[in-house]
Order: sequence, then C-alpha cells, then structure tokens
Amino acid sequence: MTPQDASLKSAEVCGLAPVIPVLVVKDVAHARPLAEALVAGGLPALEVTLRTPVALDVIREMAKVEGGVVGAGTLLTPEDVKNAIAAGATFGVSPGATDTLLDACEAADLPLLAGTSTASDVMRLLERGYTVAKFFPAESNGGAPALKAIGAPLPQMKFCPTGGVSLKNANDYLSLSNTLCVGGSWVAPADLVEKGDWKAIEELAREAAALPR
Ligand code: 3PG
Repeated sequence: MTPQDASLKSAEVCGLAPVIPVLVVKDVAHARPLAEALVAGGLPALEVTLRTPVALDVIREMAKVEGGVVGAGTLLTPEDVKNAIAAGATFGVSPGATDTLLDACEAADLPLLAGTSTASDVMRLLERGYTVAKFFPAESNGGAPALKAIGAPLPQMKFCPTGGVSLKNANDYLSLSNTLCVGGSWVAPADLVEKGDWKAIEELAREAAALPR
C-alpha cells in the first residue's frame, strides 16, 4: 500500500466520527460489550492499544462486532503490525513514526496513523507521501494552538490529535481546518469498564459522536 493510499484509508477512518476511542482493555470479556456500546453510541472506529497482554484477543473479539472498524494502537514494531493484522485490525496507530514501522505497514497494507509532534516530523511524513497523521501527545505539545500553527506552513497534512483530548477541549481541535477527528480515552473510563456500565459508556459515545466538526 502506498503512503498515498494509506492516507486515503486513514482519512476514511477519521471521517467515520469526530472521536476515535483509545482503548486500554485489560479483560477480554469486556471487549464485545465495550465495542458494542461505543458503536451503538455512534463511534464505529475503535483503537485498541497493544498495551495489555490480552490486547490482540480484544481486537479479535471487537472485530466481530457489526458496524465496528477496529484498529490497533501503540504499534511499535513489524511484529506488532503482523500480529495486529492477524487479529483483525484494519488500521494502525503509533505514537511516532520510524522508517521500519512505516515500511512494515506499507508492505502489509495496513494504513497507519503515524504519530507526529513537530514540524520536522510532519515534513518527514509529507516527504514520504503521507497526508494524514496523528498529533501526539496533543495537549502537552501545545494543544490546538500548536496544531493550528503547524497548519499554517503545512496545510496539506491533516491530523487526528490524541493525548489529553477530552469533551472540554475537543472542539478546539475539531474546529481547525487541519483536524479530521480526535482520539481519546475519555469515552471509555476505566471505572465504567470495570463496572460493566455499558449504558453509561454508550451515553459518553453518543455525546462525543454529536461533537460538531
Ligand atoms: C494514549 O496514548 O493513551 C492516547 O493518546 C490517549 O490519551 P488520553 O488518555 O489522554 O485520551
């Protein structure tokens, strides 16, 4: 998959809803009901971070949920890419971008939202042919004003800012011309997941899905 095709696919995923939930799931039994609640609330694109021992099984379970589009987050190595695809992930997310990881995703036809945090990061991805990226960690990097400022000289790159984004500040990003959607964990708080309060999570998803862009 070329970087151009990967960017088209990533833009499609980012276009599904204003928010991509960033999920750290510790119990595979939570996977199905959590994904069902988020999809029912209007957030079909789901990022399952590879940060728990069960993450690949979680992707496997979530991939069975109708209407869901499941991606793997925290992709760091070619091995992660291979495992994520085998589990059913249809897009990838990474905190940064290395040539090794980009090579692996392109070779395996996995569209990647590669992480950027500086103008040079963005320029490197643009040179390679990418026009969609993650901005991470968004709030610590200066938040929406920083992303807006990057967009002045580099308007051709579109972003999914992630890291410190919440219902309170999501609009600051979503109103920018270079922001396609945001990523965030606030729609699936650990306490609600632990309690299995899927109705409450569905409500959080609904609220997030109604954010204007
Ligand atoms: C992460 O790395 O966990 C994501 O960027 C989500 O960040 P958040 O928990 O601040 O939404």
